[in-house]
Amino acid sequence: MQEKILIIDFGGQYNQLIARRVREKNVYSEIHPYTITISEIKKINPRGIIFTGEPASIYKKDAPSCDSEIFELGIPILGICYGMQLMAHLLGGEVKRASKREYGQMKVEFAPDIPLFAGLNSPNICLMSHTDYVSKLPNDFKKIAKTESCEIAGFANLKKNLYGVQFHPEVIHTKNGEKIIDNFVKNICHCQGLWKMETFVQNKIFELRAKIKDKKVLCALSGGVDSSVAASLLSAAIGANLTCIFVDHGLLRKGEVEEVVQTFGNRSDVNFIKVDAKERFLEKLKGVTDPEKKRKIIGEEFIRVFESEASKLGTIDYLVQGTIYPDVVESGIGKSSVIKSHHNVGGLPENIKFKEIIEPLRELFKDEVRQVGIELGLSLNLVNRQPFPGPGLAIRIIGEITNEKIALLQDADYIFREEIKKHHLDKNISQYFAVLTNIKSVGVMGDERTYDYMLALRAIDTNDFMTASFSKIPYEVLEVISKRIVNEVNHINRVVYDITSKPPATIEWE
Ligand code: XMP
Repeated sequence: MQEKILIIDFGGQYNQLIARRVREKNVYSEIHPYTITISEIKKINPRGIIFTGEPASIYKKDAPSCDSEIFELGIPILGICYGMQLMAHLLGGEVKRASKREYGQMKVEFAPDIPLFAGLNSPNICLMSHTDYVSKLPNDFKKIAKTESCEIAGFANLKKNLYGVQFHPEVIHTKNGEKIIDNFVKNICHCQGLWKMETFVQNKIFELRAKIKDKKVLCALSGGVDSSVAASLLSAAIGANLTCIFVDHGLLRKGEVEEVVQTFGNRSDVNFIKVDAKERFLEKLKGVTDPEKKRKIIGEEFIRVFESEASKLGTIDYLVQGTIYPDVVESGIGKSSVIKSHHNVGGLPENIKFKEIIEPLRELFKDEVRQVGIELGLSLNLVNRQPFPGPGLAIRIIGEITNEKIALLQDADYIFREEIKKHHLDKNISQYFAVLTNIKSVGVMGDERTYDYMLALRAIDTNDFMTASFSKIPYEVLEVISKRIVNEVNHINRVVYDITSKPPATIEWE
C-alpha cells in the first residue's frame, strides 16, 4: 500500500505548495476539498493529514469545516493557520479576533523536545499571516510555540499526534520550514519516503501494460512537455499499439514542428501521424479579430481534424491525455470565472467514442512530469520547455491572422528566445515570447521612412502562472534583442517591453 499524506483544502492559497513540500520528501500527497467524508478518508487510508489555511474566520457564516470524527481516526494531523484554529474550535478550545492582523516574518519560540520541531533552532523565523488566533487551548493540548504577540503560535496533543501551527511552514519565508514538514511526515506519520520518479515510471509502465493488453491507443501530441511525456510513457509500455497524432495548425513557433517530428517521427516503435492542417486553420481564422472567437475556432477545428484522422484508424479503445495534477485540482475546486477559454491540444473530441481516457500523469506536478521525461530519455530541451498555449501564435497576433504576420512573429520570437538563452536567462524566466501588435508606427531606416509593425516582448516570473510579475531583463540584453529584431525581421520597426504584472494583465495578450 502506497504511503500517502492527505491534504484537506479549506481554501488557502498554499494548498499545492503544501502538497509539493510533502512530495519533496518523497512521500505521495493528495489534495482533497474539505467536503471529503470520513468514509472517503478511510478509503484513502493516509498516514497523515494536513489541514491547509484559509483567509476567512472560522466564525464566518458557512466557514469551511470538517467532521470532528476525523480526530478519532488515530491518524496524525497537522493544522496550519486556519487549520489550527479549526482544530481548536472543533476540539473545545477558543479562537478570538485580534484588533490588528499579524503579518510578516516573526521570531517564533519553540517548546523543547517537540517532535515536530526536532533539529530546528529556537527562536526560528516563521511567516505569520493571521487576524484570528487561538486564545484557549483545547483539552489535553499543550502550547508548543509562541511569538511576542501570539501566545499560542503552536499547540499539540502529543499522545494523539495532533499538531497545530499558526505560521506557514510550507513557504520559503519560514526558515527551515521544510524540516517541519519532514518531521511531520517522517517522524510523526512514519512515512519512509518511497515516492521516487524512477519507481513511478516502472510501476506506471507495468500498470499500463496490464490494463491495455493488446488494445489500440491514440494520443494527441502537441509537442508540449505533458503530452510528449505521456506519449513516451505509453510508448515504453505498449510500443507499436500507440498512435500519436500531431496536428500542425501552422501556429507553432519557429522550429517546433521539426523538433516534434524529430523526437517522435523517426522512432520505429511509435506510429506517428503528422497532419498538415495549416490551410484549414488559416481559412477558418480569416477575418477573425476577436480573441475568444479565435480560441473557439481553433479548439473546434482541432477536434475536427483529430476526429477525421482517428476515424481512418478503425476502432481505438483508449485515448491518452496529458492531464497533470494542477489541472485536476483546479478543475475539481473550480471557483474562478472564465477569463479566457483555455484550449489544450490534448482536449477530448466529444464525437469520437473511446472505451476510456487514460491520463498517466494526473497525479504529478510539472516538475515531476519533467523528471519522468528525463527518466524516459527525452531531451532536456524538450523536457524543460516553457509552456505554450494550445491556440499557439494565434493569440499572440493581435487582430487578423495572415501568413505574413505568422512568419514575422515566428522570426522575431526566435530571435528573442535565442538571445535569452545566449545570455543564460532562460533558466530564470518562467515564460517569454513575442507578441505582434496590430499597431503600425513611423520609423526611419537608413534615410528611408518606414511605416511598420510594433512588436511587444513579454517575459514573466511566476511559480503558478496564476499570478506573475514581469521579468527584470537587463536593459543591455533588451537593447541587443530590439536591435536584432528590427534589423533582421522585415516590417517590424519598433520593439516595446511589456512591464505589466498579472493581475491586472494576463500573461498572454489575448
Ligand atoms: P494567461 O494568459 O491566462 O496564461 O495569464 C496563463 C498560462 O496559461 C497559458 N495559456 C494556455 N495554455 N491553452 C493552454 O494550454 C490555452 O488556451 C492557454 N491560454 C493561455 C499561458 O501561456 C500561460 O502560461
